[in-house]
Amino acid sequence: MKDILQELEDRRAVARAGGGARRVEAQHAKGKLTARERIELLLDEGSFEEFDMFVQHRCTDFGMEETRHPGDGVVTGWGTINGRMVYVFSQDFTVLGGSVSETHAAKICKIMDMAIQNGAPVIGMNDSGGARIQEGVSSLAAYGEVFQRNILASGVVPQISLIMGPCAGGAVYSPAMTDFIFMVKDSSYMFVTGPDVVKTVTNEQVTAEELGGASTHTKKSSVADGAYENDVELIAETRRLFDFLPLNNREKAPVRPFFDDPARVEMSLDTLVPDNPNQPYDMKELILKIADEGDFFEIQKDFAGNIITGFIRLEGQTVGVVANQPMVLAGCLDIDASRKAARFVRFCDAFEVPILTLVDVPGFLPGTSQEYGGVIKHGAKLLFAYGEATVPKVTVLTRKTYGGAYVVMSSKHLRGDFNYAWPTAEVAVMGAKGAVEILYRSELGDKDKIAGRVKDYEDRFANPFVAAEKGFIDEVIMPHSTRRRVARAFASLRTKKQANPWKKHDNIPL
Ligand code: HXC
Repeated sequence: MKDILQELEDRRAVARAGGGARRVEAQHAKGKLTARERIELLLDEGSFEEFDMFVQHRCTDFGMEETRHPGDGVVTGWGTINGRMVYVFSQDFTVLGGSVSETHAAKICKIMDMAIQNGAPVIGMNDSGGARIQEGVSSLAAYGEVFQRNILASGVVPQISLIMGPCAGGAVYSPAMTDFIFMVKDSSYMFVTGPDVVKTVTNEQVTAEELGGASTHTKKSSVADGAYENDVELIAETRRLFDFLPLNNREKAPVRPFFDDPARVEMSLDTLVPDNPNQPYDMKELILKIADEGDFFEIQKDFAGNIITGFIRLEGQTVGVVANQPMVLAGCLDIDASRKAARFVRFCDAFEVPILTLVDVPGFLPGTSQEYGGVIKHGAKLLFAYGEATVPKVTVLTRKTYGGAYVVMSSKHLRGDFNYAWPTAEVAVMGAKGAVEILYRSELGDKDKIAGRVKDYEDRFANPFVAAEKGFIDEVIMPHSTRRRVARAFASLRTKKQANPWKKHDNIPL
């Protein structure tokens, strides 16, 4: 019996050693942790239960019999993060470059199937040379199996991808279909075709970092939702995000203990909006002052800064925040902002996370680049996302909201549950000056007359009361009491039930 037990220990030791000391050292030398070290950091201590530790590939071509290794380049299983279930896979670059074989993918598929069945999120740590070249089409088919599960899991359990090394070729499409992608600066990259192929086909000379590094994907392409300095920081932030999320689409996000008075008054908010309508202010200040303990997890911080998206808690409950940012492009809606916010709103709606919308928007950004880029369809994504969302929706209008953007930003007309405005708010088709220039074109030569017309228009519309008289604004509130009002609104909506007409699925403009 002792020998049998020892054999198990010996086999485990071989599997745990990954690709051997030399390769582990090389991994560390690149500033990267190993697959198992990453799992250890991600999960609560001692909570990891491994599956398929002894699985080996079946390939016999190209001398592959010699390269069999227990685990086949990926560590899979489940554990807990602050006591809540999660399924994980962590690719082991020290074993055949973490490349994806038929059996490697089958291990990932097994935990994904369990995650969908048992209703717990999947976190994938990607560090792989892509399809295992020696297996040819079998490894492509294997990727297909993973993709199919990503699709079925979408909207059922949260899926998070951590890119912690190379992620090339079709391999990028599995992370692309997950809810959030986070990268490590300087040691991870994602691209469909690498720099060599790019050079051959388009004659462009570009480094891997420029083509698909963390900076590229968080600032330019918006493929990634955030980037962190190293593996440790990335994993710590992933644990923080995980605490905001529900386990699946039938459960609510966890309620965390909170030590912040829901009725906390913030007198400084009464002067947040400057007297000069052209002067910007930082909308993040408002978010932080509303949030429990000022805790805000921002999504896509480095992309489309004219809109802010992320998670806060109110009375311990997760709330998704979408907010125009007057500091960037005056907070206008453009293609990038619309896409960013639409995806976030859809995530919140899919996972029953209530949405708080903070509005100060001059309208959609005009121009040929926007029109040629399809701002009509991209803007419609956000409009559509808000309109289809059935989660509790609370909106606070701080300064201005003009034109189509007024309707888009979680207005009453898109089934906003509570639509509050500060006394500084104005709801109009456009700013007073623009409106007068159209309505009184013939008087444009007479400066005094025009000034009078502008004043008339401002008196009429530069306030929230016209909209409030019509019931489009439910209540005009004091800025200093925003946290209390918003917290009470969400509290009253905890039992909200709303259903859309039956359909197979909608046809959101893509
Ligand atoms: C088999 C692979 C591999 C792969 C790496 N290795 N990629 N083995 N299949 N795809 C092995 C290497 O042979 C090496 O083995 C070990 O992993 C480490 O690789 P190195 O090249 O030494 O590491 P590094 O210098 O860090 O370079 C990493 C790399 C490079 C940039 C990822 O290995 C690389 O370019 N690999 C090929 C990438 C690729 O073209 N993949 C296919 C993409 S197409 P030893 O034994 O020496 O340690 C694809 C299609 C998916 O993925 C389609 C889905 C529909």
